[in-house]
Amino acid sequence: MPLLFEELVKKNNSPLVNMKKRSMIEPIKTNLQVEILQIFNNLAEDTVWAFEDLSRKDTSYATHGYHRYPAKFIPQLARRCIEKYTTIDEIVCDPFMGCGTTLVESLVSGRKAVGVDINPVAWLITKVKTTPIEPTKLENEVKQLLGDLTLFIETKKNEQKTSSNIEIEPVIPDNKRINYWFPHENIRYELGIILGRINQIRDDDIKNFCLCAFSQILKNSSIWLMKSVKPTRDLKKQPIDPLSTFKRHIKRMLKGNKELFEIMPDHVKKNLKDFLIAEKQDAINLPCEDNSVSLIVTSPPYVTSYEYADLHQLTALWLGYAKDVTEFREGFIGSIHKKESVHDGIKSELAEQEIKELSKKSKRESEAVRDYFFEMQQCFEEMYRVLKLKGKACIVIGNTELKKVPILNAEVFVETMLNLGFKIHKIVKRRIPSKILPQTRDSKTGRFTSNHKADRLAYAYEYIIMMEKI
Ligand SMILES: C[S@@+](CC[C@H](N)C(=O)[O-])C[C@H]1O[C@@H](n2cnc3c(N)ncnc32)[C@H](O)[C@@H]1O
Repeated sequence: MPLLFEELVKKNNSPLVNMKKRSMIEPIKTNLQVEILQIFNNLAEDTVWAFEDLSRKDTSYATHGYHRYPAKFIPQLARRCIEKYTTIDEIVCDPFMGCGTTLVESLVSGRKAVGVDINPVAWLITKVKTTPIEPTKLENEVKQLLGDLTLFIETKKNEQKTSSNIEIEPVIPDNKRINYWFPHENIRYELGIILGRINQIRDDDIKNFCLCAFSQILKNSSIWLMKSVKPTRDLKKQPIDPLSTFKRHIKRMLKGNKELFEIMPDHVKKNLKDFLIAEKQDAINLPCEDNSVSLIVTSPPYVTSYEYADLHQLTALWLGYAKDVTEFREGFIGSIHKKESVHDGIKSELAEQEIKELSKKSKRESEAVRDYFFEMQQCFEEMYRVLKLKGKACIVIGNTELKKVPILNAEVFVETMLNLGFKIHKIVKRRIPSKILPQTRDSKTGRFTSNHKADRLAYAYEYIIMMEKI
């Protein structure tokens, strides 16, 4: 019968948990892989971590609903780890911060937050979500912006002469991918006007706030097939009217800002620079001193799953973060589009076995998996460097299958981290709460499907692996 982690440890008295500090160069020689697989195989689902009773409203409170982001985790999960493993003023870090869930929760609970992400879109969203703006000041500026835009666009639509003296130059990037995703000229123009007017805002925080709202409406304004996790055009789609969607969304964001402003402790708000570091950077190089971080809470990218660069290309194109997707993909871990990389071995036998098995079916994918596990290992080394002794790394990760070969990310991460000088603190198996549980994904469109021929398995469970630096 499967057991919860604490019960398993009691029953087996596992040496992996009671491990003492050892030399980091010397890999563990016992039946490590067998033991790890046994732990995972015998692990029962921990319903306490499923947060099944939470509504969408609960998980998108304050600034959490500002922007969609693939595979973001729920704030309550991050918050529980933060409150359990840290005290006020300690440093919490997320090396794959995505849209900043961990950072928001850290600040709101009075901890210092450090996060990086290679994706500039993630940086923009995080920055905005973690920066409370004095509500009246923000509301006045947004009111002015929406008023100007309405007047300007309505006047143009009705072909009247502008009665006011509002001057807005449309900012439409000169890039053929823009026409590819936004084939309607009137939509391109309206988006260009919104961006042109946002660019006139002088206050950086307010400007970024508006850019975040702008970024969020781009998919709906384009012919992007909404439910797809791969960039696919829907030629039948009627894109929505940009200005009215922008207005609706920014008004929702104003409420979120007000809530953040109210719940963030005063001393954090007043000294935000001392409490927050959020950078566009590689997780391999964290902006933290050695032994300074008390807790890491993160969910890393998956291998060949979400292509974050592809998914955020509309924002990247409009905001000038990249000229094309190839350039934008640079540095993303887990991408199938990686250039060849040099590395000197993965400290996981399980990883080697999976790569060997997969190479019989697809060389390209097996190489992507090798790169992925190696790069993740480098990130774990960096996490080890920045963590304090006894500091915890809580990593949310699920397993998957590629070409019907199981890719046991969680087990591989545990083995690698044990070999880098961590010990297991706790492992939680949690159901991914979803009303309709996706079972498979079509590898062509990336859409969830019930088609059993699809060759990529979507996971029903994920793990929170909690490792401790020893
Ligand atoms: C699963 S998402 C994180 C979501 C996050 N927990 C949240 O709630 O929004 C993984 C993130 O890893 C980022 N990433 C990929 N390669 C990276 C790298 N080399 N360094 C830092 N971040 C990277 C992706 O851009 C993506 O935002």
